[in-house]
Amino acid sequence: MSSLSRCNNINDIRKLAKRRLPRAMFHYIDGGADDEVTLRRNTSAYEDYDLQPSFLNPVDKIDTRINLFGKNLDIPFFIAPTGMSRLFHHTKENAVARAADKYGTAYTLSTLGTASLEEIANETDGPKMFQIYILKNRELTKEFVSRCKDANYDALCLTVDTPMAGNRERDKITGMTMPPRFTFKSLLSFALHPSWSFNLLLHPDFRLANVAHRVDALANSTMSLIEYVNSQFDRTVSWDDVAWLIQEWNGPFIIKGLLTADDAKRAKDVGASGVMISNHGGRQLDGTPAPIDCIASMREAVGNDLELIVDGGIRRGTHILKALALGADAVSIGKAYLYGLGAGGQKGVELVLGMLRNELERGMALLGVSSISKLSNKYIQRRL
Ligand code: GLV
Repeated sequence: MSSLSRCNNINDIRKLAKRRLPRAMFHYIDGGADDEVTLRRNTSAYEDYDLQPSFLNPVDKIDTRINLFGKNLDIPFFIAPTGMSRLFHHTKENAVARAADKYGTAYTLSTLGTASLEEIANETDGPKMFQIYILKNRELTKEFVSRCKDANYDALCLTVDTPMAGNRERDKITGMTMPPRFTFKSLLSFALHPSWSFNLLLHPDFRLANVAHRVDALANSTMSLIEYVNSQFDRTVSWDDVAWLIQEWNGPFIIKGLLTADDAKRAKDVGASGVMISNHGGRQLDGTPAPIDCIASMREAVGNDLELIVDGGIRRGTHILKALALGADAVSIGKAYLYGLGAGGQKGVELVLGMLRNELERGMALLGVSSISKLSNKYIQRRL
């Protein structure tokens, strides 16, 4: 598989990304925590569900539009927050935001992005969300809130499953660093990927752009910026802090990283407008359930008052169909789009979005469902 045009599915794009990226970058995208049980389960769990088609319904027009956090999206999936896109392509977050806009869907910028939130606001008129942490330095969290208001972000997405970083053993093996360093270990891999390495020299702009100004605070310290950010993860964060942040923002607010009915209820009680059902792509606590297996109980717990987004493991249009049939309002795509970015920049991301859209439309026609609003649990059954 040597070019985007020969890729038939997300797995082909993953293989292309593996060939095009230095080892450390590919495995940073591709990996998970500990034994990667949750990482694998995120995708394989979709196989535990069967779709139940209903024939002889007109499907000449297929409508994939939804409304999420008050915005109209042309497709029921959007870009999940993932950090440091510059590692995977020199056109970084900007290219991904443009691709999302082209497909009429939302882009979520990570706090750990290599483009600033203002830069992304200038790049796209499409719906956009900012992923935020409640950091030890609450002033920095508050600063993000006011910058997002000034830049007209549509929603905030608070990540709550990272009181500390997960155990990513692939990164230890590959010697993944940010910015990439020419160590003895990495040199051979860089040499084998000349196009990526050439762009590293031409565009050496690896900055955690949203926190880069904090570098002043580090002037007299031996800490790197990434160590500074890691040191900012706060293990004391509680629901009271979430309530505080929801008040500060006073707009659509999604809590990312919940997996249980109890936590979904608390999210609703505290005033969140949505929850991203997520185990951080299998990168945090290994052994947590696949998001697809959590939807039904979470939906039952919160009724229709909370938007539920399924995040993790999606590689096929039928996965999207299954998540929506089980009660999700939308799904978000992380690794799948990063493979596209690594394989071919904006074109690669567009290919991923286009493939998933085509697969979804075909799946809807074959299932006998002409619009997303008609999907329900009558179209799905857990295999016994
Ligand atoms: C960061 O959130 C990561 O999963 O690498």
